Amino acid sequence: MLNFTRSRQQRSNRPNSFAGMDFVDPVKKSGVIRKIIFATGLIALCIIIVKTSPTFSSPSPFSLHETGITHVLVTGGAGYIGSHAALRLLKDSYRVTIVDNLSRGNIGAIKVLQDLFPEPGRLQFICADLGDPKAVRKIFSENAFDAVMHFAAVAYVGESTLDPLKYYHNITTNTLLVLEAMAAHKVNTLIYSSTCATYGEPEKMPITEETPQNPINPYGKAKKMAEDIILDFHKKSDMAFMILRYFNVIGSDPDGRLGEAPRPEFREHGRISSACFDAARGITKGLQIRGTDYKTADGTCIRDYVDVTDLVDAHVKALQKAQPGEVGIYNVGTGRGRSVREFVEACKRSTGVSIKVETLPRRPGDYAEVYSDTSKIFRELNWSAKYTDLENSLLVAWKWQKSHYNGYGPIKTSF
Ligand SMILES: NC(=O)c1ccc[n+]([C@@H]2O[C@H](COP(=O)([O-])OP(=O)(O)OC[C@H]3O[C@@H](n4cnc5c(N)ncnc54)[C@H](O)[C@@H]3O)[C@@H](O)[C@H]2O)c1
Repeated sequence: MLNFTRSRQQRSNRPNSFAGMDFVDPVKKSGVIRKIIFATGLIALCIIIVKTSPTFSSPSPFSLHETGITHVLVTGGAGYIGSHAALRLLKDSYRVTIVDNLSRGNIGAIKVLQDLFPEPGRLQFICADLGDPKAVRKIFSENAFDAVMHFAAVAYVGESTLDPLKYYHNITTNTLLVLEAMAAHKVNTLIYSSTCATYGEPEKMPITEETPQNPINPYGKAKKMAEDIILDFHKKSDMAFMILRYFNVIGSDPDGRLGEAPRPEFREHGRISSACFDAARGITKGLQIRGTDYKTADGTCIRDYVDVTDLVDAHVKALQKAQPGEVGIYNVGTGRGRSVREFVEACKRSTGVSIKVETLPRRPGDYAEVYSDTSKIFRELNWSAKYTDLENSLLVAWKWQKSHYNGYGPIKTSF
């Protein structure tokens, strides 16, 4: 016997049933149909939106390798040297992705570059911290880079003695993360920004690439560590590496589009050219020369000042000459030392301002004399500095400073 009662009880919370089939009441049925139509419409709309979005119909050009186009990741491209390098690469028809966390660089520099190169597939900017492994992995998995120029770093000697951990972390860890991502995604060329600070204070001048490296501050030590990481990895890799050890970088874009604009909060750590311009603009009371009793011709320190336009040219040459499985290490300087006093006099002439100069005792950690031997980079990369007129480099930079009182901020030209 069939037990109808039990069967009815089991189905009590279901729609009306008849002869083993569910019977839907017409009012409820039309509600369900409306819902189905609505959902179908929604799905169709989503499909249309996705299909008509530029990224669906044509994937981002930055995510594809394209024959004849070299896509360079410029880390630190919102900063002083990185922005000039990005400009040069873009002018030379490279595809450029800039990654910068804007901790020290300027979004204004990125805007200048975006205005100059608005065409799709030329330049993209990604605001990200290279110390964040997840962010770095994402950037490399979503973009098809051919090469990396790794400029991003904290880069003040004085600050590095006050906050050494920041320097060791930022310089070494971030280089390691970039290298790991490059290896994972088969990006085979790295141009690395190193520094003459890795040499410390050598006994013999000029400094060649064979001069022993004995850095004396955390900045120089961290950069040497990053170099060592690259050199060790090179032994096990087919990648092409170029390590460029810059001397003191000055100047700016001769066409006046970019300049050096350190954040006001970093002024106290600033480099000599910024300090001169700040004094000429009346932002500071004058210049302080620290140490006039060094064993040099006029008693002040001697440095090798290389113009940023020459420096970025060395990067392009390094990129073009980089060979798989090889590592090239090069000094990038002018091969000529200039004293701090000479520099200050050139700054006075180029700005036309009689900058007040105060002399103070030596600053701990400063070395008397540093200048480069550039014969290797000339021999192997056919590079030599062309903008070697100190006064002219400062004049070019001064013009930008004068018309950018607020750096890349709102235009204000009067001092
Ligand atoms: N300026 C010089 O005289 C000189 C000399 C030798 C070497 N260098 C090297 O050249 C490179 C560029 O120096 P610069 O003078 O243009 O400095 P900069 O401070 O103007 O630029 C560095 C850029 O790196 C970015 N950055 C720093 N940490 C980052 C992070 N964790 N993630 C993403 N972006 C980050 C900053 O925001 C900044 O835009 C540095 O590696 C520096 O050590 C500079």
